[in-house]
Amino acid sequence: MQKRYEEIACRLADKFRRSAAVAAQDGLIPYKSENGRWIPSPYDGNSWWTGGFWPALMWQMYVMTGEESFMTEARRAQKLLVEEFRSFTMLNHDVGFMYLLSCGADYKITGNRQARVDTLHAAHILMGRNSGVGYIRAWNPPERMGYAIIDCMMNLTLLFWSSRETKDPRFAKLAVTHADTTLREFVREDGSVSHIVEFDPQTGARVREHAGQGFCLGSSWSRGQAWGLYGFTLAYMNTKDERYLQAAEKIAAYFMAHIRPDGLTDCDFCQPRDEKRIDNIAGACAACALLELHKLTGRQAYLDSALKLVDGIIDHCADWSEKICGVMTHCTASYHDDGAGRHTNITYGDYFFAEAIAKLVGKDPMLWI
Ligand code: GLY
Repeated sequence: MQKRYEEIACRLADKFRRSAAVAAQDGLIPYKSENGRWIPSPYDGNSWWTGGFWPALMWQMYVMTGEESFMTEARRAQKLLVEEFRSFTMLNHDVGFMYLLSCGADYKITGNRQARVDTLHAAHILMGRNSGVGYIRAWNPPERMGYAIIDCMMNLTLLFWSSRETKDPRFAKLAVTHADTTLREFVREDGSVSHIVEFDPQTGARVREHAGQGFCLGSSWSRGQAWGLYGFTLAYMNTKDERYLQAAEKIAAYFMAHIRPDGLTDCDFCQPRDEKRIDNIAGACAACALLELHKLTGRQAYLDSALKLVDGIIDHCADWSEKICGVMTHCTASYHDDGAGRHTNITYGDYFFAEAIAKLVGKDPMLWI
């Protein structure tokens, strides 16, 4: 088994060695790959929430291979991300994804002091999104002031990191406040999670739920399930609060019950039966969470499900040819096409696939903690 994943790790390094050179030549942060080229983010330039995953992937490759060219490429992309601090207004709660996985990774792996400062800068931006009434504000449009989203569970870990780094408890306190609200308002009885809940920004009272990127209101957008699953797992790892572990296990049970026989992941677990819409990003992210849950609990079922997801991707949706710069196919940004990509290669999918492989070969630097 180990040998299979070691071979995949080598193939990942080969693929990204080539395509890192293409990204550097084009001077962009890859968002997706089509027709043998990298394509940058469709919206908000380098402030788009996914920008940190490319340098994160480069750091994974650096740790896997020790090759300096991966570090150089990570830092090239990071420089572009740090420039976004200057314009600032397009950044949102996703600064966790963007900067912990890039600058935070640099600091973690190399001890780079400026990268530490840049990561702390991002944490202060996330602190600035505190509504003061129980949630972290997700997005910027004034009419969405009361929106909190399940994805934010993944960004909280930047706050936990900052409290550890500075000994200032404010960051972790906000993370716990938001996680508690998410536990109360997003996690449903059956273990599925909502994508968007709107609160009254004055009082914090729940106003309503919104459909978001899934099939419909009340459905189970699979990437949202993965964000909840990994997010609560990380919240537990950061706090040792058993309630978060219980939430993670409840969401895990729901996710595992919906893995397709071929190991791929439907875009929404409530999508119509005859619909063939896949989002392997959700499966790759869930695999990472399940591998962590297996380490935390020793439960074999988590490892078995993680391997089913990873093997499904390897067997059906890994493209090693030069037709695309990335690897994993059938990534879908939103159930209802929002122009960000459907059934294509998207870089943050490759990040989670690489993270899962790194865990399986014992080389994961664990950039989230
Ligand atoms: N954070 C947005 C998404 O998962 O597409």
